[in-house]
Amino acid sequence: MRAGRSGDGPSRRMATNRRSAEEAQDTMNVIVLHGSARKGGDTDTLAEHFVRGLGGEEKHAVTHFRPIEMEIAHCRGEECMGCSAGKGCVVQDDMQAVYPVFRDADIVVMATPMFWGYMTSQLKTLFDRFEAVVSPTYFGNKDFVLLIGYRHYYGSMVEWLDRICEGFGSRSHALLCQTFDPETGQDVPITETPERLEEAFDLGLRIADASTAS
Ligand SMILES: Cc1cc2nc3c(=O)[nH]c(=O)nc-3n(C[C@H](O)[C@H](O)[C@H](O)COP(=O)(O)O)c2cc1C
Repeated sequence: MRAGRSGDGPSRRMATNRRSAEEAQDTMNVIVLHGSARKGGDTDTLAEHFVRGLGGEEKHAVTHFRPIEMEIAHCRGEECMGCSAGKGCVVQDDMQAVYPVFRDADIVVMATPMFWGYMTSQLKTLFDRFEAVVSPTYFGNKDFVLLIGYRHYYGSMVEWLDRICEGFGSRSHALLCQTFDPETGQDVPITETPERLEEAFDLGLRIADASTAS
């Protein structure tokens, strides 16, 4: 597994060997799942910089989903099991637009604040519905990218993603950004820590580079 971790220590960005977006490589399919209800907030901003690092929306096929604005029913599990016929999820709602984009994605971005120690409920509701398509076709050979804003804790999300990626031979990356100053007890908007945004950009750049090299 090629795993990336950054943001939970001092910035490691080097000013050297920065390549421009114009030099970015092959077109990739990118799905961005926005976990926050706050448009333009910390995690949206991280996602924006990550996509720029990849080479930008003009270079890649980038599709954004914002579950807070979508009709996505909860997975009803054993009470339904309509997916057991092997034809995907039988629930006809906005999730049906997500499945093919997720299947075809080279890069899956999950940009979420931590709420009660985990992803937000709207993102979890969306993810639960992937139960209907759990397979290497949907989960294999991808780069999964966590972009997290947190005050105190992010470990559950990192462990969760690592397990998925190990199971399917996909690659796990995480950018973990504390948007809180423990000394003052105040939230710190991500825009006030430009080094975090540069890390997001650099992560995108590294993944684009690695995809070209492979
Ligand atoms: C209702 C609420 C609950 C939160 N719960 C947690 C939490 O359990 N753990 C944590 O580390 N941060 C928590 N936070 C902090 C957010 O995860 C953090 O501020 C994040 O950067 C916000 O991202 P956004 O601007 O994209 O929404 C919480 C914030 C809010 C508003």
